[in-house]
Amino acid sequence: MQVRKAIFPVAGLGTRFLPATKAQPKEMLPVVDKPLIQYAVEEAYAAGMREMIFVTGRHKRPIEDHFDMTFELEVALEQAGKNDLLEVVRSVKPSDMECIYVRQAQALGLGHAVLCGQRLVGAEPFAVLLADDLMVADPPVLKQMVDQFAHWQASILAVQEVPAEQTRRYGIVAGTPVDERLVDVSRIVEKPAPEDAPSRLGVAGRYILTPGVFREILAQPRGVGGEIQLTDGISGLLRREKVFAYRYEGRRYDCGSKEGFLEANVELALAHPEVGTHFRNFLRSLEL
Ligand code: G1P
Repeated sequence: MQVRKAIFPVAGLGTRFLPATKAQPKEMLPVVDKPLIQYAVEEAYAAGMREMIFVTGRHKRPIEDHFDMTFELEVALEQAGKNDLLEVVRSVKPSDMECIYVRQAQALGLGHAVLCGQRLVGAEPFAVLLADDLMVADPPVLKQMVDQFAHWQASILAVQEVPAEQTRRYGIVAGTPVDERLVDVSRIVEKPAPEDAPSRLGVAGRYILTPGVFREILAQPRGVGGEIQLTDGISGLLRREKVFAYRYEGRRYDCGSKEGFLEANVELALAHPEVGTHFRNFLRSLEL
């Protein structure tokens, strides 16, 4: 079966970026010139997904507006003959991409957010992308995972080695190596203390999941932080189906933290065709 649908949980409050996120969704914060959410949507599109399901909350309308047609802007750019900018604006939502919005009325956790997409996903495998994790890779990380899914027809979790002192920030998996990139998962724990972590393989914000996970999320009691955790649902799924962890090839920026967000801006600015050279010279001129 093919993966055609992607869930983007975007209902979070973004308190770590206050005051920037007081009246603006954190997913709309730009890295150089593109909002975080657009990087994630482009990654899903490049991996073959055409149905984008946004699980939103209050104050998230700018996301809907971003992926909508901006009629006045397009007319103005067209009349001014600014065809390159018109192309930039139009490419935000390719015509064969569908955007669907569903509300998560209460912030009850990532598992709960994914459950909000259940009816739209139905009985198909689907992807989950957390826009906070900006992935730079070629081929895109989700495409690498779709290729793994095509072979195994089982859930695939993106993982990376994390420092021992950071296990409390991640879902941590353990299992048996299948090859140098793939692990047959036997355990997954949400945000364990370093001494309880079964390994140092942390889950990054990219998942391909089979629809069986919905029932498992529903069956779990509240987890870490009193939240309905996706990790706990995946842990339930493990008892019925195979789940693989995939060490992706590429770079992850944790844009849920100020440091990661700034690093992403610096590195992507350096690689940017329009501003890269100028920015490199500017950085060199700084006496650090
Ligand atoms: C979520 C998941 C966690 C995962 C992480 C990746 O945590 O619950 O398992 O490792 O995303 O970014 P959050 O960062 O939302 O607290």
